Amino acid sequence: MKLSFKHRYGPWAVIAGASHGMGAAFAELLAERGVNCVLVARRTEALEKLKAELTARHAVEVLWVSQDLSRPGAAQKLIATVGAREVGLFVYNAGGDPFITRFLDSSRADWASLLRLNALTLMECAHAFGGAMLGRRRGGLILVGSQAALGGIRKLAVYSATKGFAMNLGESLWAEWRDHGVDVLNLLIGTVDTPTMREAMVKLKIPDALNMPLPKAEDIARLALAELGNGPTLIHPEDVGLTDPQRGPGFARRKQVIGKSAEAAVFIGND
Ligand SMILES: NC(=O)c1ccc[n+]([C@@H]2O[C@H](COP(=O)([O-])OP(=O)(O)OC[C@H]3O[C@@H](n4cnc5c(N)ncnc54)[C@H](OP(=O)(O)O)[C@@H]3O)[C@@H](O)[C@H]2O)c1
Repeated sequence: MKLSFKHRYGPWAVIAGASHGMGAAFAELLAERGVNCVLVARRTEALEKLKAELTARHAVEVLWVSQDLSRPGAAQKLIATVGAREVGLFVYNAGGDPFITRFLDSSRADWASLLRLNALTLMECAHAFGGAMLGRRRGGLILVGSQAALGGIRKLAVYSATKGFAMNLGESLWAEWRDHGVDVLNLLIGTVDTPTMREAMVKLKIPDALNMPLPKAEDIARLALAELGNGPTLIHPEDVGLTDPQRGPGFARRKQVIGKSAEAAVFIGND
């Protein structure tokens, strides 16, 4: 029997980076499906407001947690706050580059904070929440990534490196967990209309920064939920609307993960 979304990925979802943009869109779509939400971000007011909106519109419980995920110990604190709640879906959306400079034009401390946000905190949360899901043999992880994961980019060195880390982590976990009931999806996106993106474009004096048409955050979140079972990697927009999905770059990555896992098994075991 096919489980409903709520039974497959509920009763709780943790959405890291939920105060606006895609994270807030994920929360809305999940609450609509009856999944309780833990909303995590730094902006207290935005989180409080979103909680009020979600609970007014949907019969769900919402907990908000104001926390900077780029700080040391962030994952441990978040995991402790979530406590015994049964988390069936973990969405890691926080992770835009707040610096966007050449490598030497930001400090080592700044880059270390981005590394913690996009790699260490993500890995520790995936271990805790994913581990519990594996024990229950159901659940899902959505790692909101970037096409910057696919190769280095000028002025995005640490961002691109950390997004590569997240993508490889997600693809490996998909390979380990796919036969155990836990779905993993890396969502690699190009550009999306989020407050952070618009602010960055204005700051960088990009022509038409506020009006340039961009894909909508809600459409991307909806796509990710629909494709959660088709991991490990979905590349937007290249993988979308193909008559033959097997011709998309996401399918090529899946083949690569399966092939390389089989090849490696000869040397590192198939357990
Ligand atoms: N927008 C794009 O065009 C684009 C393109 C490619 C990939 N992406 C990826 O999509 C995801 C979302 O991007 P975005 O443009 O919405 O930007 P973002 O700056 O990552 O913001 C997303 C959410 O994360 C929260 N957040 C950011 N830094 C945080 C921190 N240190 N601790 C806790 N929460 C934090 C933000 O809220 P607070 O500010 O309240 O903390 C917001 O709710 C990111 O992973 C990004 O890499 C975006």
